Amino acid sequence: MSRPKVTIHDIQNAKEQRRKLVMVTAYDYPFGLMADEAEADIVLVGDSLGMVVMGLSGTVPVTMEHMIHHIQAVMRGCKSPLVVGDMPFMSYNTSIREAIHNAGRLVKEGGCDVVKLEGGVHFAPTVEAIVKAGIPVQGHIGLTPQTASALGGFKMQGKDAAAAKQIVDDAKALEDAGAFSIILEAVPAPLGKLIAETVRVPVIGIGAGPDVDGQVLVTHDMIGLFDRFVPKFVKQYTKIRPIILEALRAYRQEVLAGAFPGPEHSFKMPEAALAELKRLLAQG
Ligand code: KIV
Repeated sequence: MSRPKVTIHDIQNAKEQRRKLVMVTAYDYPFGLMADEAEADIVLVGDSLGMVVMGLSGTVPVTMEHMIHHIQAVMRGCKSPLVVGDMPFMSYNTSIREAIHNAGRLVKEGGCDVVKLEGGVHFAPTVEAIVKAGIPVQGHIGLTPQTASALGGFKMQGKDAAAAKQIVDDAKALEDAGAFSIILEAVPAPLGKLIAETVRVPVIGIGAGPDVDGQVLVTHDMIGLFDRFVPKFVKQYTKIRPIILEALRAYRQEVLAGAFPGPEHSFKMPEAALAELKRLLAQG
């Protein structure tokens, strides 16, 4: 039996009920289906697709068209989880008007339920405007991959008190702006705990320690499909890449050896039809 659709109210109630939230990424139909079947609360169509699906060096080149294409595919398989569409770099950074327009495109053309964008205090007015336009927003603070170069690379954030205070301020600003939830990436575990205790909205951590309201991982990292680099905060629950590689290599060997396809993978033709075909061909 299919589960009821997860709503932003379910997400917010989970914090009150002290039930941990489970969030994963998906970029296509089969992973959308599996995330649903595995009973994720939230599925993020993240711009991490730039790296783990498109082979780009980072998330910066990802476009609105890429996001819409992948969100549509995920939506065909993912029915119960709340689906978050990630706003790509420069789709919300230049003006509030453009941010609302692009958030609207992800929801209208992609079909996702809500959107996510990176940034704290400086983006609070943008978050507020999108929420007022009727689209729920999830914030994303701490390490923000779209602006990682400005943060000194893919590094833990909030190391000293001043930097940590800034991230607390970011979280408060997002909450005040109406964000329904906040992703907190790559910060010390005690800071994760403090932020989750400070704001009322659920804080979902990725490298923010155990004492937040839920966890998110990039699925392709967690299953060992993407292993160009594995961040410290990733746990690999399986290593799927060698299994896929073994299958591809076995297929190649069998094709080369003429062992595939065998009779069980081939269609039969009635003897009489074959004989008639040969007779017709012989007639020219
Ligand atoms: O794009 C993404 O996958 C993300 C996660 C790292 C939270 O933003």
